[in-house]
Amino acid sequence: SPTTVSPASSASTASTLITNIAALVTNDPSLGSPLGLIQDAAVVIDGERIAWTGDQSKAPATDNRVDAGGRAVIPGFVDSHSHLVFAGDRTQEFNARMSGRPYSAGGIRTTVAATRAASDEELEANLTRYLAEALRQGTTTFETKSGYGLTVADEARALRIAAAQTAEVTYLGAHIVPPDHADDPAGYVALVTGEMLDACAPYARWIDVFCEKGAFDGDQARAILTAGKAKGLHPRVHANQLSYGPGVQLAVELDAASADHCTHLTDADVDALANSRTVATLLPGAEFSTRAEWPDARRLLDAGVTVALSTDCNPGSSFTSSVPFCVALAVRDMGMTPDEAVWSATAGGARALRRDDIGRLTPGAYADLTLLDAPSHVHLAYRPGVPLVSGVWRRGVRVV
Ligand code: NIG
Ligand code: FE
Repeated sequence: SPTTVSPASSASTASTLITNIAALVTNDPSLGSPLGLIQDAAVVIDGERIAWTGDQSKAPATDNRVDAGGRAVIPGFVDSHSHLVFAGDRTQEFNARMSGRPYSAGGIRTTVAATRAASDEELEANLTRYLAEALRQGTTTFETKSGYGLTVADEARALRIAAAQTAEVTYLGAHIVPPDHADDPAGYVALVTGEMLDACAPYARWIDVFCEKGAFDGDQARAILTAGKAKGLHPRVHANQLSYGPGVQLAVELDAASADHCTHLTDADVDALANSRTVATLLPGAEFSTRAEWPDARRLLDAGVTVALSTDCNPGSSFTSSVPFCVALAVRDMGMTPDEAVWSATAGGARALRRDDIGRLTPGAYADLTLLDAPSHVHLAYRPGVPLVSGVWRRGVRVV
């Protein structure tokens, strides 16, 4: 049953009722299903928070009123994995791949060179543009990473630029060993865990490692994540993307918030995730754009693993900022139901960021919500490629 939070007494804070919502996704499991769906619903926003959700016939009086026109409302998407501080693109590499060349992590070097050569203004303008794109597609929270600088100054710069736009900033100095350290990977790990970490930690909440053949092995990744933890950064891991490997079990060992990609998993990897609070973040845009095999979401869900869905937006492996596209892929090709995919792209992303103030539309949460131009959240998978976002509120303010 609906609950009311008394407004924070301020007369200056306007309250808004959004009514005539055909289907409201609250992600409140106490309503009988993980999505906490309410039909013929209304939402009350007070300031930057949700004050009330429930049956529209029982909605309290408010200052303002918005008619949702019989459409669906869902929590704003929480995109918990992106790489948006970069310059240039990799159109040629994509063309070559679509003609049969395989994806390789080596392409990261192309973007590192372009990013190092770019001005601060250029990087800021790119980031702003991709964020605006994401917002128009219903994303109200995003995480983003460094990883295309790979010098002390270039990594710190990327994180400073990211931190001006989001609280969810991740230090990924360990993306690859850059060409300037090709003969000295141990020296690069020392830099990433030493001077570079010192310069980057003030801007970041998280530390990440690309744990993969051709990037960093399990021992290097453990050393890097452990050094980050000692500096107050919490781990997340690019794990088991291109091949089987130690990444997922390392993520669990270190209580990482998330193991990301999870494309090549043994039964032991799935068990480890199921017995942990580490979320498996699946990034189907990467498998789409690299023509790789899909991660098996069904296997993870059936084992009891918490699954998040995100874009991995980056110029190499997944140049999409669209969470709805990822939802559609996950439903079509990864064994998720539409309900599961929408949960994973909202509440799942929040879990992957260890946040409980976003990803749900229940009293007290931030009023981050997306109005769909459709009567049901299922249309996100059912009508792929169609722009279905007709309104976005962020922290209680309508921004789209
Ligand atoms: O998540 N796997 C490592 N990093 C990115 C790809 C980066 C790139 O190709 O530029 C990813 O897929
Ligand atoms: Fe990534």
